[in-house]
Amino acid sequence: MPNGGVFRFLFLISLFTLSLSSIPKYDNIFLPIHLHNDDSLSSSASSCPAPNPNLNYKPVIGILTHPRDGASGRLSNATDASNIPASYIKFAESGGARVIPLIYNEPTEKLLKKLDLVNGVIFVGGWAKQGLYLETVERILKIAFQRNDAGEHFPIYGISLGFELITIIISEDNNILDKYNARNQASTLQFVENADIEGSIFQSFPPDLIKKLSTECIVTQNHHFGISPEKLQGNEKLSNFWEILTISTDENNQVYVSTVRSRKYPVTGFQWHPQKNAFEWGSASIPHTENAIRVTQSAAGFLVSEARKSTNRPNDQEVRDNLIYNFKPTYGGKAGKGYDEVYIFE
Ligand SMILES: *[C@@H]1O[C@H](CO)[C@@H](O)[C@H](O)[C@H]1NC(C)=O
Repeated sequence: MPNGGVFRFLFLISLFTLSLSSIPKYDNIFLPIHLHNDDSLSSSASSCPAPNPNLNYKPVIGILTHPRDGASGRLSNATDASNIPASYIKFAESGGARVIPLIYNEPTEKLLKKLDLVNGVIFVGGWAKQGLYLETVERILKIAFQRNDAGEHFPIYGISLGFELITIIISEDNNILDKYNARNQASTLQFVENADIEGSIFQSFPPDLIKKLSTECIVTQNHHFGISPEKLQGNEKLSNFWEILTISTDENNQVYVSTVRSRKYPVTGFQWHPQKNAFEWGSASIPHTENAIRVTQSAAGFLVSEARKSTNRPNDQEVRDNLIYNFKPTYGGKAGKGYDEVYIFE
């Protein structure tokens, strides 16, 4: 069939002509390389709305170190050493922030300079309740209040000891705390009547998780001090400053305040440890259930969402020069106790 060959030839010729004549039409199609070369075109072609220009998408959290090595001398006996358990750092990072360590006993000028580079602060758990440590917490707290008063949203998380120290500072009473028995205990959080969770940390908890907080032991307690709701309410300075959100019960059925928020500032106080569930493994009492991990994630998310509202826009290079990435943690939990990883500054 010689004719078949001719037709096939003609068909191919016409296909070739067709494709040649359609080349100009493809001018309307942009490859990624074209879009990159034309900024105005790429933004008009994009369907993703620009992020809110009022928020800070590179928030940095300052974490104040705590005296000594965090491992009862197993890692260092240097008296001027201080530490941050890595769980607090991972906690802030998991919320979408970077971390700058604020070393409590470094020269004040240096500490204050670092404070200018952050968008919020965590006061960690521990035992130091007096001297330079208390003074440093108070100095940072007052600066945080000033920055909030001046219009910068500057959140604080006071966790366990951190909450206790803020309570001591606000009440101006070093003996305001009472003894409790809540060492290494998983517990619930019971919301007080009419708890105002709007705009509080619990706003970032999914509704089903809020309900679980009062029925499942998914928060970690590890303290032998605390304050009762009656004592807090009965102290004018404290009741003016803190609003109680939740209470919990210790091993002896004594009730203590477990979560508070400041009435005026973006300050949250925890008697419990939101960072432990996902990042500490040295105690059998720390809950690691799916809901317990969601507690850590929700609490981290709220801190960083608050820090994004900070109007502070520090110099990028100065931030990088001071980030925790400049330091290395030590694996202190290999023996199965204490903090798993800890950063030691000496
Ligand atoms: C710190 O001192 C204690 C008690 O003397 C000792 O057992 C421990 O090994 C020391 N730690 C270090 C890191 O040297």
